[in-house]
Amino acid sequence: MFSSLQNSKSLNSFQVLSTETPSNPYPHVTHNETFTIEGISYKLDDQTNVSPSILSKLSRKLHLQPHHPLYILRTQIEQHFPHFSYFNTFNPIVTVQKNFDDLGFPKDHPGRSKTDSYYINKQIMLRTHTSAHQLEVFSKMNTKFLISGDVYRRDEIDSSHYPIFHQMEGAQIFNIQNIEQEISKDKKYLISLNSRKIPLRDNSEVNDDTIISTNNPIQSCHPIEQVNFAIKHLKFSLNSLIKKLFINHDENLKIRWIDAYFPFTCPSWEMEIFFKGKWLEICGCGIVDQNILNKAGQSDKIGWAFGLGLERIAMVLFDIPDIRLFWSQDERFLDQFTDFNDNKIIKFLPFSKFPPCIKDISFWLNDQNFHENNFCEIIRNNAEDLVEDVKLIDDFVHPKTKKRSLCYRINYRSMDRTVTNDEINKIQERVREDIEEKLNVTLR
Ligand code: PHE
Repeated sequence: MFSSLQNSKSLNSFQVLSTETPSNPYPHVTHNETFTIEGISYKLDDQTNVSPSILSKLSRKLHLQPHHPLYILRTQIEQHFPHFSYFNTFNPIVTVQKNFDDLGFPKDHPGRSKTDSYYINKQIMLRTHTSAHQLEVFSKMNTKFLISGDVYRRDEIDSSHYPIFHQMEGAQIFNIQNIEQEISKDKKYLISLNSRKIPLRDNSEVNDDTIISTNNPIQSCHPIEQVNFAIKHLKFSLNSLIKKLFINHDENLKIRWIDAYFPFTCPSWEMEIFFKGKWLEICGCGIVDQNILNKAGQSDKIGWAFGLGLERIAMVLFDIPDIRLFWSQDERFLDQFTDFNDNKIIKFLPFSKFPPCIKDISFWLNDQNFHENNFCEIIRNNAEDLVEDVKLIDDFVHPKTKKRSLCYRINYRSMDRTVTNDEINKIQERVREDIEEKLNVTLR
């Protein structure tokens, strides 16, 4: 079953009509300046911080590109929830109201800040999560659905962080009066209860010592027995999904549940998987805040929601070592996953690793406003996907002047060719000029 609530405008091509060049992502916006994106014009204002290089990626839609690892993973997740409605084409340009206000984010929540999120203007932004569509989908009386899409967050730079990634939102709600009977229609769930083990994969370990307590309480409007059914069903749905996805994975699978906080679920948890020596967060979830269901006109329901990060899971499943590879247009990457019979998981065979080009940059801060995300954004704007990693290697305060100095090591490397020192020097020069101009720092 496929349904879409999106209006008919597609976002295939982006025309950014701005007087700014890509290297100037924070224009001093004067009255009446606009961006035109797919024929819709947006007024810029002093909240604008979205850069042309980010906007140029809005049309890629990797989760809809057949044979792409994110497409394969999305369809496998959909197969695990066969009777759900799927929404895969919602516009990533959303109102701040949808992304934050409708979900009960407090006005001072750090996620709202310009250093963390991309704004087109004060009212319009790039969604930071697929939860931005929860209220609208619940309001159309849906009771079980999946939403997939690209989401945008300003962040640091390394092999598992990229300012765009993909999420899949899942939710299922039940009649409060009838939840036990409704859940008992889920045969897979019943089997798991009876055998006390999910018969999908034996070499996996699920660790869950979370408990309901005042730190992570149930909502006062929820009857305990009913909410417990919903919690068990949520945990079953996610544990069985992950076990199924990893069924052919060679290593033992370790999953753990930890308490979490989200403004729009209560209680809330995160699910992590153990990979290459560390716990990777792959999912946030919880019991849907009743205010959202009430606003949506479904006050007689109770249920759960989750948000899965697709890149993290795909990196483990397909053995993809660097998150930039998902954006690669190189046939040596894309052709590896083409399997015409089935959306099978095929391990990535890395093509040779090309040599890095390492540059350091140090500067004095002239005020307290320096934020690493702004610095990383400038590097991305100039280097695009040639930047692999940015690390702070020195941070010191001059004993006399009390001025603070930072030194960063930027690791430039292409995933498909050898970069020349000359081209990287040119990029580095532009980065130096930009940070001096935009971040109020003095280069050393
Ligand atoms: N939207 C949350 C995030 O991006 C994840 C989440 C989804 C949490 C649904 C709870 C319920 O981190």
